[in-house]
Amino acid sequence: MKKYILLAVIVAATSLAYSCSSTEVEEEKSTNAKAARIARGEYLVKISGCGDCHSPKIMTPKGPVEDSAYLLAGFRSKDHLPPVDSSVLKNGWALFYAEGTAMVSPMGISYAANITADETGIGNWTLEQFKTAMTEGKWKGLKDNRQLLPPMPWQNFTKMHPEDLEAIYDYLQSTKPVENIVPMAVFSTQ
Ligand code: HEC
Repeated sequence: MKKYILLAVIVAATSLAYSCSSTEVEEEKSTNAKAARIARGEYLVKISGCGDCHSPKIMTPKGPVEDSAYLLAGFRSKDHLPPVDSSVLKNGWALFYAEGTAMVSPMGISYAANITADETGIGNWTLEQFKTAMTEGKWKGLKDNRQLLPPMPWQNFTKMHPEDLEAIYDYLQSTKPVENIVPMAVFSTQ
């Protein structure tokens, strides 16, 4: 009898140990998968030049470089666009702010959005919202909202694979949150 009890205890202990280690293995696998997704997202953000527009710049002798304190945080709320001679817009010109974070065009004035993990950025967005903004060009990723203005090149992203969008989303959610409320876009009345 004792022998059977001992055997049952051994079997139970072994299966418990096995189930613990298999959950740990699963958790480790999913942590590794997430880390790989974030790394891929960072790579995709770099090669698609999101920072060209979404990161304010510091001017150096070698040209503009991304301001690391404002990485992907959009047009700095404390800055102001210098006055613009809007008569040039009637002659086919659009003006790009030298930092890349704002554009004045015949359609109006657009300011690159804060896409960091802060709540003034996309920190409280769902993946679904992010996909809607990226592939349908909707402000704040909500279907009933206005269309995003140029130069956000969302038309280029309409066919982006869902796993790439997810990787970019996971990377952006892992960025340093930067509190920065970007000015509202201004629509031209002409
Ligand atoms: C050529 C400039 C440019 C590039 C490149 C660019 N964006 Fe944008 N993006 C903008 C501008 C400007 C806006 C704001 C447009 C508006 O308010 O109508 C914007 C808006 C967005 C929005 C919507 C934000 C909101 O609050 O609704 C998201 C999300 C976004 N961009 C993500 C990205 C990602 C990710 C990349 C790279 C894969 C990228 N953008 C590349 C200029 C750019």
